[in-house]
Amino acid sequence: MIYQRLDDFPADFLWGASTSAYQVEGAWDEDGKSPSIVDMLDHPEETADFKVASDHYHRFREDVELFAELGLKAYRFSVAWTRVLPNGTGEVNAAGLAFYRQLIDELQRHGIEPVVTLYHFDLPYVLEQQGGWSNRATIDAFVEYAAVLFDAFGDRVKYWLTINEQNTMILHPGAIGMPKGGELPSKQVLYQQSHHMLVAQARVMALCHQRCPAGKIGPAINTTSMYQETCHPLDAIAAHNWETLRCWSFLDVAVHGRYNALAWRYLQDRGLAPQMEPGDAALLLQGKPDYVAINYYSTATIAASRGDASDISARAGDQQIMLGEPGVYRAAENPFVGKTRYGWVIDPVGLRLTLRKTYERYHLPILITENGIGAPDELQADGTINDDYRIEFMRRHVEQMQLAINDGVELMGYCPWAAIDVVSTHQGYAKRYGFIYVNRGEQDLKDLRRIKKRSFDWYQRLIATHGRQR
Ligand code: BG6
Repeated sequence: MIYQRLDDFPADFLWGASTSAYQVEGAWDEDGKSPSIVDMLDHPEETADFKVASDHYHRFREDVELFAELGLKAYRFSVAWTRVLPNGTGEVNAAGLAFYRQLIDELQRHGIEPVVTLYHFDLPYVLEQQGGWSNRATIDAFVEYAAVLFDAFGDRVKYWLTINEQNTMILHPGAIGMPKGGELPSKQVLYQQSHHMLVAQARVMALCHQRCPAGKIGPAINTTSMYQETCHPLDAIAAHNWETLRCWSFLDVAVHGRYNALAWRYLQDRGLAPQMEPGDAALLLQGKPDYVAINYYSTATIAASRGDASDISARAGDQQIMLGEPGVYRAAENPFVGKTRYGWVIDPVGLRLTLRKTYERYHLPILITENGIGAPDELQADGTINDDYRIEFMRRHVEQMQLAINDGVELMGYCPWAAIDVVSTHQGYAKRYGFIYVNRGEQDLKDLRRIKKRSFDWYQRLIATHGRQR
């Protein structure tokens, strides 16, 4: 579609940036915090772990100053459950709550809207030892934890997110790191966990509306559009299969409160359908999101399955690299898109398409809560970091966002990944995403100094001109 003119970004558009607790905070065992599952992962020696991360816990005031200088209107961060409820449930750790209270104060003092993710991969280890998400009791624990946050901050936080990338945790569990011993749960176990997360999420959304009348809450899923490799009808079916199973099936339950029909049949046929307790269907219907958050990095290209083991790609998969599944889909290459050095497809137009599809499907406002490019940014001898590739990546994505707005999509804001360098989920500190460089290596913590990258200046100008000067 060609427009006569492009609409402006909405006046209250949330130009923001994101992080998550365990990837940025450090202080993994300070002030009463207990370990989470990510603290207990089997970490390859050569990559950074999450113990110090970007030391944001000790430097958040300085960081928020920089976020304000950047011009952020919103900052999306997650709360570490293990700081607030070190036992997973029960006694509240006042020091943990105090940290987030100070962070929120500091943000609001600078006119930055906090966007709070309740849970971003870091389940308390103590709950994991009791079965984690396989144990239905974790549903109650999550609701209890959310209630603590709603009561503490509900008067000041307007935007809440339930669970970050449930689909990554279920479909690409290895992407978040490998447990010691290297054993990942079976698919059956994972789908049961997923069901518990969905019930927990629905209850928490309902609770948010009860306790925070001005609050808005939504799910945050890793979304991507799937292209079919050729115009062969079976390629179209395969692309639809995987787009449904990977993305829509999670959002459909979050928004409509019922399982997607195709996904449910897939689960049933393979003996993977979760056990539902009486009352679960009603609980799922209670959850009514106010908006949908999407993390968008890539698209994928899909071909018809050949129905055998050759469908499964030899490449190591992660949340953006599709693996294939016999009888369901086969991963294919797209000659029309670029790739990052980590093999993630770069496809700005795919963002417009994904926004259109998401809006058409749910008719809810959309917040982009992640988008960005991981790269081994280098600090030059003159003290600069020239991440022109990041500017180019984001410039092209912002352009497509504006086109999506013209398409009629109700886009609330853009919170790219990441506000500041963070530890990658499984690729350490060499894979950086931030507008702000943190001077540390994988093992060598150096001075953890903050240095503005070239993309900082670019994003600052973009925000100041409300998206006009790209
Ligand atoms: C998203 C996660 O999937 O991708 C983030 O929500 C993560 O936690 C981001 O950091 C980038 O992925 P990675 O694996 O490069 O850190």
